[in-house]
Amino acid sequence: MAPRVPLIVPSVLPADAARLGAEVEDLCAAGADRIQWDVMDGVFVPNLTFGPDVIAAARRHSSVGFEAHLMVVEPDALLARYVDAGCELVIVHAETATHLHRTLHRIRELGARSGVALNPHTPVSVIENVLDETDLVLAMTVNPGFGGQSYIPAVEAKVRRLRAMIDASGLPIEIEVDGGITDGTIAGAAAAGADVFISGSWLYAYPGGKADGVQLLRDRAAAALTPVTADLGRR
Ligand code: DX5
Repeated sequence: MAPRVPLIVPSVLPADAARLGAEVEDLCAAGADRIQWDVMDGVFVPNLTFGPDVIAAARRHSSVGFEAHLMVVEPDALLARYVDAGCELVIVHAETATHLHRTLHRIRELGARSGVALNPHTPVSVIENVLDETDLVLAMTVNPGFGGQSYIPAVEAKVRRLRAMIDASGLPIEIEVDGGITDGTIAGAAAAGADVFISGSWLYAYPGGKADGVQLLRDRAAAALTPVTADLGRR
């Protein structure tokens, strides 16, 4: 099993919407591994954010991949539009997918990688029968809808369960966490088994700038993974 390498994926939710192209360029220059677009429909969550045309316009400003986190009540109706807008990974919420297996399969048919998000209350059991259609599982570490919320440490137990389930499957599924990820919380999430980390408000507010912030998050996550990686290295 390859050692886990942490990926830092900024959310553009806190960005200045009047200069999204430049904001995307800034995140790429800062060392982002991917960029996450928090898509909200005002129904599944109270907020309303990015349509596919906005993402398509920003696409040419990015040297890294885009992922769409669809916090919407009808994801099936939107999958093709966000893939066509340039999202190489599309994440739907298990809570909104009546036919989750079919939805994840459809995302792959469209040529993107498939992701499923679990709200803090949703058990990992809901995805145990769709792992073969899944490229990423997102364990929400806040209740979705807004940036700047406090990290929910109790989700780390769920991340440990996800890590055990995925390792037992032998499938190359990424575990992502999103919400309240800072230099103070990322190590706990990494030690629990996460390998992809979304950060929005903390990164945008980091006084040393985004590049130093990305590097600090990467270092903190890597340090938390080192015991596991070192152990893997000895096998
Ligand atoms: C919640 C959003 C946020 C955003 C990042 O619906 O998904 O989690 O991506 O939020 P913060 O500001 O907590 O990093």
